[in-house]
Order: sequence, then C-alpha cells, then structure tokens
Amino acid sequence: MTTATSPHAPTQRPDDLPAAIRETKAQLRAQLGGPAGVKAAFREVEAFVEERVKEIEEYNARGESIWPEINYDDIAAGNISEEFKEKVRRYGVLVVRNHFPREQALEFDRELVDYVDVNDFDAQYRGPGDDFFGTLAASRPEIFPIYWSRPQMQARQSERTAKVQAFLNHRWKFESEGVKWFDPDQDSMYPDRIRRRPPGTNSSGLGAHTDSGAVERWLLPAYQKVFQDVFSGNFANYDPWDAAHRTEVNEYEGGSTMCSAFRTFQGWTALSDQQRDQGVLATVPIPEAMAYILLRALQDDVAEDDLCGAAPSRVLAVNEQWHPLLMRGLTNIPDLQAGDSVWWHADIVHAVDPIEDQQGWGNVMYIPAAPMCDKNKAYSKQVAEHFLNGTSPDDFPAEDYEVDWQDRFTTADLNEIGRRGLGLD
Ligand SMILES: [Fe+2]
Repeated sequence: MTTATSPHAPTQRPDDLPAAIRETKAQLRAQLGGPAGVKAAFREVEAFVEERVKEIEEYNARGESIWPEINYDDIAAGNISEEFKEKVRRYGVLVVRNHFPREQALEFDRELVDYVDVNDFDAQYRGPGDDFFGTLAASRPEIFPIYWSRPQMQARQSERTAKVQAFLNHRWKFESEGVKWFDPDQDSMYPDRIRRRPPGTNSSGLGAHTDSGAVERWLLPAYQKVFQDVFSGNFANYDPWDAAHRTEVNEYEGGSTMCSAFRTFQGWTALSDQQRDQGVLATVPIPEAMAYILLRALQDDVAEDDLCGAAPSRVLAVNEQWHPLLMRGLTNIPDLQAGDSVWWHADIVHAVDPIEDQQGWGNVMYIPAAPMCDKNKAYSKQVAEHFLNGTSPDDFPAEDYEVDWQDRFTTADLNEIGRRGLGLD
C-alpha cells in the first residue's frame, strides 16, 4: 500500500476552452463506443436515477423526510447499524442530531455576534468580495467573510467534530488500486465562512448546483479516472464512494468557487433552530446523479463546445433546461435544532430555497469533512499561515477583515486536533 501523492497546485485553464471541450467530448464519446454507446450509457443512468427520484417523490408525498438521521452519542459510542450505513450510502446525505448540545450552539452564535460587534464589522464591511452567493440588499451580509472567531475554531477542533468527520470519511473506500487515498481518522482544517440570516429576510436562495469543479469534471485527467466507469459505459461498476484519484484532482485556477481541498462531505452546523420551509438547504439525495450530469452533456442535443452551460470559476449548475429529472428529486432537510449538523457527499446536487419574510434565524457555520492526504495537507499549510496572520484563506476572496481584530482565536488556544488539522504538530 502506498500513499497517494499529488502536487497541490491549481491546474492552468486551457487557453481555448471551447476547443478543449470539443476534443474531450470526441474522446469520451469514442470511449463510450460512438453515438449509439453514448445514448445507451445515458439511458441506463437515466433509468437508475428515475427509480431513485420516484422513491424521493414517494417520501415527499408521505410528508416524510428521506434524510437519514443519527444522534451524535451513537456515533461517539460506535453504535451505528449497518442499516444506517446503507442509508447513508444510498442517499449520500445525513443529519447528525446534537452534534453540539443546543445550548452550546446558541452560545457559539452569541459569541459570533459579540466578535463582529466588538470589532465593528458593520462599519468595516465593504460589500461582497465575490458574487458566489448573489447580492443582497441588507446592510449586513448574509454570509460573513470571517474565519478565525473562537466559536468557529472551537467547533473545528472539537473532539465531537473529529468523531463525526471520521465517521463520514469511513463511509468512503479510501484504499484501492494499492493506494491509500486519504487517512479517514484525521481531518485537515478547511476554514469557511458563516451565514447569519435574520428573521424577516427575503432571499432569492441559491440555484441547484454541485461544487468541486465544473468543466473540470469532464476535462481533468484525474476526474476522467474518477469517472472512468461512467465514461466507458460501465455504470454498473461505478462506485461514487471509491476515493480513487479524487485526491489527485486540482481544479482550474481562478475564481472563488475553487476548492483546494478534497472533501468527502460538505456540511454545516446549525447555530439556530430552523424550520424546513424557511429557505433552507435542499439536495438531490442521489450520489450517482453526477453520472447523469456527465453523460447528459455528451448527448447530441448539446452544442459541441458546450457542457450544459458548465463554465470555469462557476459552480456546476443543474437546471430545468438540461436536468428536469434531477430537479424533481430536490428535497429539503428536516426541521433542525441549533447544534444539529447536515452533510452531503462531494457530488451531491444541492440548493437553497428562496424565502420571503423568513421566520426565525437561519444561522450556520460551514465545516466540511476534509480528510488528511497530500493535497489537503498542502492546503492546510497555507491555511495555517492565514490563521497566524488573521487573513482570509486562499480559497476565498482576500478580504482580510480580521487582521487587527480583538478576541481572535490564537495559537495558544489550539488543542491537539487543531494543531494537527493545521499541520502545526
Ligand atoms: Fe455549494
């Protein structure tokens, strides 16, 4: 068994993207056995996804949540049934109840408010550093570009989070082809922002999409290996939980949608109670849906230099025009309490519902699972520099609000998990 090695550096974007798309399409179509093979491969995936969508619709019709749920205490005690693991495998999403006790999560939220208030964030805020989450008319943003508050760091280095992340990482096949692709028992720290959405908010939400690469999913040689069974008409062999080559993916340089880390699951922790009809997260709980997206773009009603609208430096959009079947599968999280966390597999389609006059707060802290591997270790070294300086991590706009802020989390506050996650051990 060797350890996966991967140079950590963004890939240079092709100079002539339309030409690169045309060439890649020709190559992938040939692999699939020409026009008939391309069509047959898509039909097979479509039939699979259709079955899964029907299952989701049945849940929705019964008013039942399809999201598998587990209590943090059961993860900590290793009290996890095979049935539950199988559900996570099938749907690629889950809710961890009581990841933090509700009172602690509410305290985190209060501390975050104190942190931005004592540092006069409202006066310093210069507007969105990117357009990733769209624009909002509020004087305070919905997304706070802050990274180094005590609550964020305490949550990231908490033993509870480490246990949840290890559980999530272990859902993946991390050894294959004679390579250990990542260490499921250690996470690298991937600092992200927070969202605080007050009662009364009107928000247009966020359209359905996937992260971690758009055109890259077809064009990058590493992704072509990840999806080799999809791109060669062997969908029956395709395993979305096989980590092989995933940690070798380096997305195209530029734009703030780029993620430099490999994440087994994306996720966030609720810092307020949230009702499922109040502009919350929805997903298409089908990990194999990525195969549908990939093969859809190769069909002959899509222009030769187009991948259903995918573009560099943008999230990979899923929409009614190209993916009406997937759109039928969008389903909301269940009602949450502060302290619950929600998670979705790296390929899962997700969206945020629009809302008018939101009832209650909508506060979350983004913390993914990003297990240690060469790729993530390299990024965490850069993260450690930004932590020490109070600057924004490289995957985010260089807004650097916190450089001179008081009450920032310090190196002295790091525990063993925190030091390890930052590569400072
Ligand atoms: Fe996203």
